[in-house]
Amino acid sequence: MTFQNELINWYQINKRDLPWRHTKDAYIIWLSEIILQQTRVEQGLPYFIKFLENFPTVNDFASATEAQVLKLWQGLGYYSRGRNMHKTAQIVVNNFSGVFPNLHDELLKLTGIGEYTAAAISSFSSGEARAVVDGNVFRVLSRYFGIDTPINSPAGKKQFFTLANELLYQDDPALYNQAIMEFGAMQCKPKSPNCGICPLSQGCFALNHQQVNELPIKIRK
Ligand code: ADE
Repeated sequence: MTFQNELINWYQINKRDLPWRHTKDAYIIWLSEIILQQTRVEQGLPYFIKFLENFPTVNDFASATEAQVLKLWQGLGYYSRGRNMHKTAQIVVNNFSGVFPNLHDELLKLTGIGEYTAAAISSFSSGEARAVVDGNVFRVLSRYFGIDTPINSPAGKKQFFTLANELLYQDDPALYNQAIMEFGAMQCKPKSPNCGICPLSQGCFALNHQQVNELPIKIRK
């Protein structure tokens, strides 16, 4: 089986049932992705539910006061995320007629949306072929392909971005993106992954060269 098919196969069997995986609504996916930045799923999930209950649409979000948004955000940290979300909701209402953009290049113009988030929202909501590259993806690719370029160097970012997009499963970019991130979070964990049960162990460079704990490489800045 190909790398892509192994990942998708693993995902179908092992995925967590998470609410944002049942929608193609760009607004709802945006909510989940911003909340999950720098936040674990277990911690972010109750906030996602709370925000969606209070603000079922982007119009509801934009109509709130910043104080209401920050009150709901309490406990999540990185409050600039909450402030940026409020600004973004207002831009979507004022400049996009309240229709949340679902294309990568439009998304990049919004406050608080960088390359990863634009790829995630566009692939999940419109099926656009954009590979997500987050910490999970860096780890899976560096270990499997034995890439020792530092993930936080300009050269590394470029190399991983290019490889991730070459590998992207064109028939279903959303499924593949969810699969590789979930695989990184649940199977190819940062510390002591259980490689004995990994479906990709045969072709894994890091496992075959005893480098699982060395990869990926990050340089201190
Ligand atoms: N972290 C960021 N995006 C995620 C997603 N779509 N599913 C699970 N964890 C995530």
